[in-house]
Amino acid sequence: MKTEILTALRETDGFLSGQALSERFHVSRTAVWKMIDQLKHEGYEIESVSRKGYRLLSSPDRLSKHALLSSRDTEWIGETVVYSDEIDSTNNQAKRVYEDYPHGTLFVADCQKSGRGRRGRDFDSPGGTGIFMTLLLKPDIAPDHASRLTLLAAMAVQKGIEETAALSAGIKWPNDVILSGKKVSGILTEMSAEEGTVHYVIIGIGINAHNTDFPEEIRDVATSILIEGGKRISRVSLVWSIWRAFEELYAAYLPTQDLSRLVEEYDRLLLNRDREVEVLDPNAPFTGVARGINERGELLVETGTGMVPVSSGEVSVRGVYGYV
Ligand code: BTN
Repeated sequence: MKTEILTALRETDGFLSGQALSERFHVSRTAVWKMIDQLKHEGYEIESVSRKGYRLLSSPDRLSKHALLSSRDTEWIGETVVYSDEIDSTNNQAKRVYEDYPHGTLFVADCQKSGRGRRGRDFDSPGGTGIFMTLLLKPDIAPDHASRLTLLAAMAVQKGIEETAALSAGIKWPNDVILSGKKVSGILTEMSAEEGTVHYVIIGIGINAHNTDFPEEIRDVATSILIEGGKRISRVSLVWSIWRAFEELYAAYLPTQDLSRLVEEYDRLLLNRDREVEVLDPNAPFTGVARGINERGELLVETGTGMVPVSSGEVSVRGVYGYV
């Protein structure tokens, strides 16, 4: 009900009367008043004028199920939102309950107690500052094509940050999103598949939105939208901006299940491009110059003996001179 009332207020420029709301949603005017009161306590600024009704003046930067759903403008992603103020990890949560939720479900948390990064690392996930979310997909694709989706997610985050914060981020292959040489977002894609069939792909995205400081270990390599842009953004707007972009990219990916239509765009955002990189292959590490990706999402690294396609599952790549 809160979602419906908030959506109605958002969609109306002027006032919306208590009578109109109570008729539209088949609840008493007292129930409407109570909801409005709750929303005010959550930080929504709602003007109430007798004989005119209610008018939404501003929304807090607060994540909640109703804040998310009342602003949703995607086509299919997030039709179902599972929101938690606090959770161990939205990726873990999605894995636990994937059978009960449809393709496109979005798990969002304000804070994660055991946020996970790639290669078994932790992902710092304090409350009130970031966005921690996981998209559940049940796609009809070949299991070995799934890792390509992670590059789409990086592009979507880049676009979302550009649209919402007017900051031009770049991508460190395969999927770190970078502002001023530091990481602002990380992505962890996981999959479960059996005998050539994908049960699920989950794309977990963590974004440093309003952090002003970081734990010692990552202080030199992490940044936030607030630090870089100097102002706060609406986390809710950023969530939907990212998934709108992802829907478009996914539509370009699906027909061929590769990045053939997206290579050019990805390479434009690729910060490693034409830079010397170290490929940390556990068997045989090597260095070379990153030239871009191919349609499989592999990084093409030029070495003395030719062009080597590097796939993200096996190795990590780091800049020879600094983090990127
Ligand atoms: C990385 O940079 O190594 C990947 C970080 C991924 C973090 C996100 S936050 C939402 C989702 N839940 C997790 O536990 N991890 C991902």
